[in-house]
Amino acid sequence: REIFLKDYKLPDYYFHTVNLKFSLGEDKTIICSEITVFPREEGTASPLVLDGQDLKLLSIKVNGEELKGEDFHLDSRHLTVLSPPRSNKFTLEIVTEIYPQNNTSLEGLYKSSGNFCTQCEAEGFRKITFYQDRPDIMAIYTCRIEADKTLYPVLLSNGNLIEKGDLEGGRHYAIWEDPFKKPCYLFALVAGQLESRDDTFITRSGRKVSLRIWTPVQDLPKTVHAMYSLKAAMKWDEDVFGLEYDLDLFNIVAVPDFNMGAMENKSLNIFNSKLVLASPETATDADYAAILGVIGHEYFHNWTGNRVTCRDWFQLSLKEGLTVFRDQEFSSDMGSRTVKRIADVSKLRTYQFPQDAGPMSHPVRPHSYIKMDNFYTVTVYEKGAEVVRMYKTLLGSHGFRKGMDLYFKRHDGQAVTCEDFFAAMCDANGANLSNFLLWYSQAGTPLFKVTSSYDAESKAYSLKFSQEVPPTPGQPVKEPMFIPVALGLLNSKGKDIPLSSVYHEGMLQSIEKNGEPVYTTVLQVKKKEEEFVFSDISERPIPSLLRGYSAPVRLESDLTDSDLFFLLAHDSDEFNRWEAGQVLARKLMLSLVADYQQNKSLVLNPKFVHGIKSILCDLSLDKEFIAKAITLPGEGEIMDMMEVADPDAVHAVRSFIRKQLASELKAELLSTVQNNRSSESYVFNHPNMARRALKNVALAYLASLEDTEFTELALHEYKSATNLTEQFAALAAIAQNPGKTREEVLGDFYSKWQDDFLVVNKWFALQAMSDIPGNVENVGKLLKHPAFDMRNPNKVYSLIGGFCGSPVNFHAKDGSGYKFMGEIVVQLDKINPRVASRMVSAFSRWRRYDQTRQSLAKAQLEMIMSTNGLSENVFEIASKSLAA
Ligand code: ARG
Ligand code: ZN
Repeated sequence: REIFLKDYKLPDYYFHTVNLKFSLGEDKTIICSEITVFPREEGTASPLVLDGQDLKLLSIKVNGEELKGEDFHLDSRHLTVLSPPRSNKFTLEIVTEIYPQNNTSLEGLYKSSGNFCTQCEAEGFRKITFYQDRPDIMAIYTCRIEADKTLYPVLLSNGNLIEKGDLEGGRHYAIWEDPFKKPCYLFALVAGQLESRDDTFITRSGRKVSLRIWTPVQDLPKTVHAMYSLKAAMKWDEDVFGLEYDLDLFNIVAVPDFNMGAMENKSLNIFNSKLVLASPETATDADYAAILGVIGHEYFHNWTGNRVTCRDWFQLSLKEGLTVFRDQEFSSDMGSRTVKRIADVSKLRTYQFPQDAGPMSHPVRPHSYIKMDNFYTVTVYEKGAEVVRMYKTLLGSHGFRKGMDLYFKRHDGQAVTCEDFFAAMCDANGANLSNFLLWYSQAGTPLFKVTSSYDAESKAYSLKFSQEVPPTPGQPVKEPMFIPVALGLLNSKGKDIPLSSVYHEGMLQSIEKNGEPVYTTVLQVKKKEEEFVFSDISERPIPSLLRGYSAPVRLESDLTDSDLFFLLAHDSDEFNRWEAGQVLARKLMLSLVADYQQNKSLVLNPKFVHGIKSILCDLSLDKEFIAKAITLPGEGEIMDMMEVADPDAVHAVRSFIRKQLASELKAELLSTVQNNRSSESYVFNHPNMARRALKNVALAYLASLEDTEFTELALHEYKSATNLTEQFAALAAIAQNPGKTREEVLGDFYSKWQDDFLVVNKWFALQAMSDIPGNVENVGKLLKHPAFDMRNPNKVYSLIGGFCGSPVNFHAKDGSGYKFMGEIVVQLDKINPRVASRMVSAFSRWRRYDQTRQSLAKAQLEMIMSTNGLSENVFEIASKSLAA
């Protein structure tokens, strides 16, 4: 059943207080819920409809009176109280029984490694008790947990611990009280054998907050970085947004079985272990960075998500887009802004652009869904963050902060909409952002074209913009978007030209700020076609467009290759230096793909080699920037730009360019590896991460040559590494090439790390993602490996998700990859629909390929659709993929 945004209705009843009592057991868990209910309009005759799924109802009382069969209606999804009292307040008591030990969906209350934990967002609370499971129902919760004391010594829920004690029969209890009202998706409970790393944070107004990170005892040493990240996030939110923590306790629990990354439950964040646990030997720099970002993200939700929440799930980006934006800014401030921006934009291009161009394309605020879980997407999160970033680009840092302040002032304690956020931004700045809201309602990545012309006589430089938003499912025709274009103009020396004014629609707009010229200005493009003319420009400039990637669009400009090489060498906007290199690489790759398809021999443009060489050898550049700038766009990005995606051609071309670069820049790459070794112990900071990143990229290039000299070099790096970042990169470099060394080193790595499941997952992923021909067979074998378990999402994402990361194997022309995935999806759906629907998404762009592949992929989708008892999750993705 599809749910529509336009059908939103205010609830007929609100809940004021919720008193929960959990009796946790091995065979069954009993939950008593006592709710004070009040009608939105006094005297209403509406029935009270509660959501509930997989629950056994033991009893239901209204104002203390047990309801009889004719007083309520129960079906597989709802419990309806037919005629609640027509008073301004009544109490509802419901007792349910559930079986968390059998819950493999990992939603609601479930067990992970013997411990109880919960995941309620988006609609998991209804698997615990009957409730109005919607975010605009906000209530004050108390929670009493009772369990066996030996098996579950630690009992946690939201808020403050107000009482605990022992009970008969080896049991004990704890009572938690959360003083902040919240929607049920933020409810959490944890019970188990856990130990905590403890620390404190003093807020700027002097509140002393206890910080606790809970894990099984043996993992405690690996929580140092998570604690560091939490404290850094708390400080940063005070410094940058003036936002302080609001309770005396903040808990984080790491669990090994978790569908997503982490969850911001009020004062009891629950995390996937992989986003908490780290040590230099068992986690890479990328893991350290992800932990910093996600610990920040969940902490930041305390204000953007919890204190101010969403009215309904269509508004998800209100909290997620905003909180992703906040975590991106946090990570930028803690490391390198340019490098973080490059990483975020790459992610958007690699994952969100294809989604926006496929059958699952949806606006940042979707109009409808079958299963909300399917809309925790890169569009809602990452494109949503770009939308928030555009407010900041348009209003400036100070204006953005004013908007945020007003948003909290108006809406603290409320469940609101994206329009409320927009209004706060506009009102705080007296700004008219006209059609900006279209970013929330129109799907599809705008195609944004720019042409330039220069008139030497009048010294006028003109930029003409045109835009087109492609049709997407359900949205055939689109309006023009509001596109902020941050830009600068470079003179022939490569310096920014001071900008003082621009003509636009017959008006001269001043650009200067307090009489000072500016070097980057933000143009507001709002129409299908629009022209801006800069005057007093004494030579033809080279434009640096969309600086910092100021809008999530596909830019097509008339810049020549030599303009792009010039920008790559000189742009003061570092992001755009990288971007110029990427545009060049994309053009080059596409033209080589065409050559490859016509059986022409491949030749690499020497200018490109030269450009890469100058970046590689420029000692003034940040090393991580170099690492990113010498990395070619991914295969998916190139396929995305083709009429008919050809995975074999793209793979062959990308491998060819890599080898060619490696062979022509052998000496430079080798000295890059040698000069970036370090004998010092592991430090997580930007200079060290940058050094390792550059060294690792250089090593991978060299190893692609399949030359014994470099296999030996990689082997040496593998053996001498003192941290996983370098060791794993060396392993990956070796594993590119089939052969004895590969098998030996993979075996060695497994025997070394077999007891650490997070490291083993990387080992699975590395093999799964391999482009070695016929790898599907190897992945099939790994499914039977003793360390693999279909019930653990991380393992599935590593091995099965990893396999889809190799286009040549997933899209193998014989259909072996599709068949493998089709079967897995059906199997997985019976265990965990949420995970299965993520896997079935791999098929969604099947129409992008040739006829043979199309029919093979389609056959698998049809097979999936014909499966009995298919979940709504998989049904939604598979049916939309077939329909579009
Ligand atoms: N709110 C969480 C976060 O982004 C995501 C949880 C989503 N979980 C789910 N099952 N849909 O921080
Ligand atoms: Zn989030």
